[in-house]
Amino acid sequence: MAEAIQPPERPRPESGSGEAEARRVAESSSLLVRWMSIGDANSGGFIHGGTVMRLVDEAAGLAAIKHSGRRVVTAGMDRMTFNTPVFVGELLRCTASVNAVWRSSMEVGVRVEAENPFTGETRHTSTAYLTMVALDEGRPVPAPKLIAESDDERRRQREAEVRRANRLAERDQILGGR
Ligand SMILES: CC(C)(COP(=O)(O)OP(=O)(O)OC[C@H]1O[C@@H](n2cnc3c(N)ncnc32)[C@H](O)[C@@H]1OP(=O)(O)O)[C@@H](O)C(=O)NCCC(=O)NCCS
Repeated sequence: MAEAIQPPERPRPESGSGEAEARRVAESSSLLVRWMSIGDANSGGFIHGGTVMRLVDEAAGLAAIKHSGRRVVTAGMDRMTFNTPVFVGELLRCTASVNAVWRSSMEVGVRVEAENPFTGETRHTSTAYLTMVALDEGRPVPAPKLIAESDDERRRQREAEVRRANRLAERDQILGGR
């Protein structure tokens, strides 16, 4: 008799990694690739921005899950660029990794590239930065610290701190003006 196939194991409340642990950036590295079909296009004939945003969110979620070993939610998106249109028939390649970790929140950077499957030619189409929060039973819980090893990883960590500081300063300025 064929062996029963089990669904992926879900994190138990006591599982996941606490803040005492530390993980390397490379351990969160995630790749999501999808072929763009006619159903992903807008009335202009190229790929809908929302299609790209959804894939970006999924890729960021995967990276945050890999880092924390927990369920995560998207708390916000600090920035997303759309540099060039994406066309039906291209492969959309979303590469994500954790840039910085605070307590329960993590910034994940996502780079999006479109690839022509006939020629292999690729171009950079979007960059996005999302904040994902690690949860246990619906509540934010500490995520493992991040080990940034390369110069690029340390640069991304520094830049994530700048985005967070700007976001918090903007929030304080807006609340202060009410
Ligand atoms: C994100 C969420 C869990 C935060 O919960 P909360 O009760 O506000 O908890 P806290 O105030 O303790 O915030 C938890 C962390 O999230 C961060 N955070 C909260 N709102 C944020 C926002 N808008 N942008 C960035 N970070 C945010 C906080 O800075 C904090 O980070 P830290 O633990 O690293 O210091 C909650 O707002 C939520 O569940 N939102 C809905 C998420 C959702 O449905 N997403 C779409 C589908 S996945």
